Amino acid sequence: MNSGMKKKKVVLAYSGGLDTSVCIPLLREHYGYDEVIAVTVDVGQPEEDIKEAKGRGEKLSDSYREVDAKEEFVRDYIFTLIKANGNYEGYVLGTAIARPLIAKRVVEVAKEEKADAVAHGCTGKGNDQLRFDVVFRTTDLEVVAPMRELSLTREEERKYAEEHGISFETEKRWSVDENIWSRSIEGSELEDPSFFPPDEIFQWTVSPGKAPEDAEIIKIEFENGIPVSLNERKMDGVPLIKELNEVGGKHGVGRTDMIEDRVLGFKSREIYEHPAATILLVAHRDLEHLVLTRNELRFKEFVDRTWSELVYQGLLMDPLYESLNAFVDKTQERVSGTVYVKLEKGAARVVGRESANALYSKDVSFDSKLEQRSAEGFSMYHGFQSRIVR
Ligand code: ARG
Repeated sequence: MNSGMKKKKVVLAYSGGLDTSVCIPLLREHYGYDEVIAVTVDVGQPEEDIKEAKGRGEKLSDSYREVDAKEEFVRDYIFTLIKANGNYEGYVLGTAIARPLIAKRVVEVAKEEKADAVAHGCTGKGNDQLRFDVVFRTTDLEVVAPMRELSLTREEERKYAEEHGISFETEKRWSVDENIWSRSIEGSELEDPSFFPPDEIFQWTVSPGKAPEDAEIIKIEFENGIPVSLNERKMDGVPLIKELNEVGGKHGVGRTDMIEDRVLGFKSREIYEHPAATILLVAHRDLEHLVLTRNELRFKEFVDRTWSELVYQGLLMDPLYESLNAFVDKTQERVSGTVYVKLEKGAARVVGRESANALYSKDVSFDSKLEQRSAEGFSMYHGFQSRIVR
């Protein structure tokens, strides 16, 4: 049998942008694959982006596939993140939490298609290469990363694109990654940490200064740590998050401009928009403070941070991830209740909360009949060791 005759197939994680578009002819010409299958995984990118990816993907690749993963993304990734208060150095992990799912769906297609290889368009500088690679390498498929391997300059890339009929209506100034949970904007002048972000980079949020004078109070109900209704309307995750992005964005809620420590150790300047994430995380954490014990809260802070670090690194298949989720899920059995959040000029503040599981006791309120004198004995020994030292 002559294996050299067999057509070699590669499945590419395809976003429709310049990098992944250039990857298609590169995979043929430079790597010698006979067939390139481009897969766009929909995790809530703007519809126009998905449409554009389809048009370009169909034109450039041998076969194009679109996979809708929005519901799975919200149910199995975003909801898990909310329960763990996912946050890495102030970043709501939007891109990070989506990559493992995108990689998983690409691998599924590769298996169906009996492909020889899987490819992504990440460079060798960022975190995303790690998040894709780690999932791709759970298989025996070859892993190809043309952007990382060939390290083309922007100019070389553009020239190559032009030669292969890859064109974009408008030159994209910023590198944007968007899904239902967050929008991340990097690149160009933004790489200079002292450069002020121009208003045009924001698309989900108005500038807090231009937000309406009138504040708005929204009511969110949680069941076992998961948001289930908004303003008394039961809602599924996808529409609930979309609506919170709208209403939060209108009030200028959910902008982050930060310096982030990448996995490789580089610091990078990052800008994010994430109104729904801000609102849900603020509300969820507040509800936890009402229903969890002090000991649970202290311990969970550490669990949440470790969880966030794993997700940032793309290590969802580390057994620790599953163990942490088991702990988190156990705590969330009591995290049910309602939170009122006030949206005002860029801020999302909790103004009220209630739960049948509240650990709050009215017995200690200002005008209760609590026998205060019995606290005297406790008070007498409080700080005992410190007093001896002094
Ligand atoms: N810094 C973030 C992360 O590592 C976001 C990267 C998003 N990429 C982009 N092209 N904007 O998760």
